[in-house]
Amino acid sequence: MAEDYQGLALTTDSAKAAASYSDCMRAYLGFQTDVGLHLKATLQADGEMPMALITRGYFFHLFSIPALERKAADSARSAAEAMATRGGTPREKWHLAALQAWNVGDMTGATDLWEQILLHHPHDVMALRLSHFTHFYLTGGAAMRQSARRILGAWEESRADFGFVQGIAAFAHEEAGDYEMAEAYGKRAVEINAKDIWATHAVAHVYEMQGRQDEGIAWLDGLSGNWDDLNNFRFHTWWHKAMYHLEKGQFETVLGLYDGAFWAEPSDEYLDFTNAAAMLWRLEYQGVDVGERWSALADVAEQHSTDAVMAFADAHYMMALAKDGRDEAAAAMLAALSEKAGTSGDQARATADVGLPVCRATLALCKGEAGEAAQILLPLRDHIQRLGGSHAQRDVWAQMICRAALDAGRYEDARGLLAQRTSTKANSPIAWRWYAEALEGCGDSAAAAVARSNA
Ligand SMILES: [Fe+2]
Repeated sequence: MAEDYQGLALTTDSAKAAASYSDCMRAYLGFQTDVGLHLKATLQADGEMPMALITRGYFFHLFSIPALERKAADSARSAAEAMATRGGTPREKWHLAALQAWNVGDMTGATDLWEQILLHHPHDVMALRLSHFTHFYLTGGAAMRQSARRILGAWEESRADFGFVQGIAAFAHEEAGDYEMAEAYGKRAVEINAKDIWATHAVAHVYEMQGRQDEGIAWLDGLSGNWDDLNNFRFHTWWHKAMYHLEKGQFETVLGLYDGAFWAEPSDEYLDFTNAAAMLWRLEYQGVDVGERWSALADVAEQHSTDAVMAFADAHYMMALAKDGRDEAAAAMLAALSEKAGTSGDQARATADVGLPVCRATLALCKGEAGEAAQILLPLRDHIQRLGGSHAQRDVWAQMICRAALDAGRYEDARGLLAQRTSTKANSPIAWRWYAEALEGCGDSAAAAVARSNA
């Protein structure tokens, strides 16, 4: 029996495997590119180490690609066989059960198991990171913050990777709307480690949500020199910088970041794709000509049109297919999502209730059928969270619903939505312009003039 770097028991006799596994976890916390290499080294040292096999399964899931989902099931089988022979600790057995739950689409069940592990082992960073990943795609910020609050007291400052845990707490508080605490946790983490991109990103979200664009730009510019050897998550952080410039109306800068930083190369990773698609969608709402960029995205989306793994990713793939008129792939995607909707699991339910209708509405919008899109989207206005993702990411659908209502001539609906939007985004010119359009449509020219002047 060995231990990981947090002192948690690992069922292996190989000190080398335990050390490599610790390196793997630390690389995972740091968004480093060598996570997979450390896991490989772990399995080379001990090919039957239960936690290594389970972790391999977990990592396969994180890609959200069908072929790797199947490999996750193989990893769970290997881990179960290894544990049948050599046994396992209660913690490892819970982890195996969590992987098995995830394998059948039961993200809630997996999350419950990770949270149970954390009650007993608050230093299990794998359980912590993964539970926050799934909370993010299930019920969102409040659950993440509660999760963080349960373990923070167990993390003394001198403990290895204390800083990373502050960063995890930062993002959890941000998504729960607790911006002051989020900023404090995030800045503390970055003070400890300027390469902590998750904490950097959490503070970027605070600036985004509070409309502090200039501070956000300075924050990311000041830290971006630390990201060169980090994984693709750095692209998402560049996307956040583009979001500030978008709000400031600096569209050339946004396109420069698109072409040079966060979509410099076509990527197969869903987060990269969602950055790109959602940014093009937003740019077009601002009247920006995005050239041939949808076509390049649609080429990638076609490869994933029948994935149906994550409702959040699917809804972005559909944006590109719909914008570029890839009717055949879009139809195949709707068929795949309908099939997924008839199965069990959290993502199946999210697809059935929200993902599939949102994809249908996206397609309708791109075909000029705003009435149809509004009919689908308006009842979903308060349920988009079910797709998962951050508040900042989901805002693209908040915009889509407003625009669909306006284009469908449903001005009272649009007026209500935009009254909400201008009250939370008082610095957003586009929100005021659209509000003016809604007010005009409702026959209230005086109020429309005020909204236009605010814009
Ligand atoms: Fe983000």
